[in-house]
Amino acid sequence: MTTFNFPADFIWGAATASYQIEGAWQADGKGESIWDRFSHTPGKVLDGDTGDIACDHYHRWPDDIRLMSDLGLHAYRFSIAWPRILPNGRGQVNQAGLDFYSRLVDGLLEAGITPFATLYHWDLPQALQDEGGWPVRSTAEAYVEYADVVSQHLGDRVKNWMTLNEPWVIASLGYLMGVHAPGQQDLDEMLPASHHLLLAHGWTVPVLRRNSPDADVGIVLNLTPQVPASPSAADRAAAWTIDGTTNRWYLDPISGRGYPADIVQSYQRELDYIQPGDMDVIAAPVDFLGVNYYNRGIHRSNVAENMPETVQHSGESTEMGWEVHSESLYDLLGRLHFEYRFPAMYITENGAAYPDPLTDDGHVHDADRISYLQRHFQSAARAIAAGVPLKGYFAWSLMDNFEWSFGFSKRFGLVYVDYETQQRILKDSALWYKRVIEVNSLQA
Ligand code: GCO
Repeated sequence: MTTFNFPADFIWGAATASYQIEGAWQADGKGESIWDRFSHTPGKVLDGDTGDIACDHYHRWPDDIRLMSDLGLHAYRFSIAWPRILPNGRGQVNQAGLDFYSRLVDGLLEAGITPFATLYHWDLPQALQDEGGWPVRSTAEAYVEYADVVSQHLGDRVKNWMTLNEPWVIASLGYLMGVHAPGQQDLDEMLPASHHLLLAHGWTVPVLRRNSPDADVGIVLNLTPQVPASPSAADRAAAWTIDGTTNRWYLDPISGRGYPADIVQSYQRELDYIQPGDMDVIAAPVDFLGVNYYNRGIHRSNVAENMPETVQHSGESTEMGWEVHSESLYDLLGRLHFEYRFPAMYITENGAAYPDPLTDDGHVHDADRISYLQRHFQSAARAIAAGVPLKGYFAWSLMDNFEWSFGFSKRFGLVYVDYETQQRILKDSALWYKRVIEVNSLQA
């Protein structure tokens, strides 16, 4: 047995996102989002599930704050639904939407829980998608207007801001692969979408600093270590290319390095949507990087097609089919620190889906999730010991919720949600996590 101690000021939290938990999709003047439209389109989400009701958090947030208190969470990462604030994406402000988040923030602070607010976790106002969505520059301008309104209202109390959640997923799954809203499949939409997301981020950093004095401002990236299937030069090149399209495409510009040249070349496009000064805007210094880590990717070179090809892993798997590989979290944090030097980092998401059957006596004995978390906490502790400025950890997720195109079929929560009754039940992992937080250390 080894004991892994965490720094005294280490922040333990849990994360959610607006569309995945709130429900109340038409309440109090909220506008339609691209996820409302997408989930209401037959065939897009498994079993026709939608976020119309989800966890009904919009109405049950006081109970949910009590759950967080039960768990002893220090912090809560949530996202704000843009169409609740600006139903048409820009222009008219919906006060009821602001009031909802204002009450939530006050409730958190009263409970001694620090709010970490994400401004964009994928629910773009449909009105903006109708004008072209992220592939058009005016969406980034509208985002700044939205961020300005929100931070003027909450910036006195929210002191930790994240501009975007996972721009790679937004651009690639939404505009290239078509499996997320708005369901487009076009490289010539994906590329400008990625740029306008980064531009929206860069423009917003100074707005948040102005409206929220002393706040810490960051961005959240999904970062996946991309490793070669063999030590061959060809497989290493394949992995490096995928690292470029997924990780470096976002890490490099926000770090002032511009887009990675090897990847720019491989896309064979003009990138004529980049205007003078954009790259400086995007390089606005941040206070922290939010790291979402779930698994690694394994790649080889497909010689026949001269293309990188992803290899199915043969290791331990979660219910998503994702490999459990906690060592890669340690490698990732080390790489980020030694290659990019962000002033601070948080793990803003990490977790796993498992079947999570409810037993007759009303428990969820999710030993597999406890084991998953325990190993990832160890990697985090080891990274800190190696000098990585990791300031906190947010489990994905506080509770079971709407897992995008998988609907409600995948349970990531520390807390079980019975979607029929909206009853919440602490899984064994929640009780285990509570204990880790109490002692701020881990026996493994
Ligand atoms: C993510 C998403 C979450 C997912 C989680 C599990 O940021 O990727 O933020 O919304 O639910 O990652 O797939």
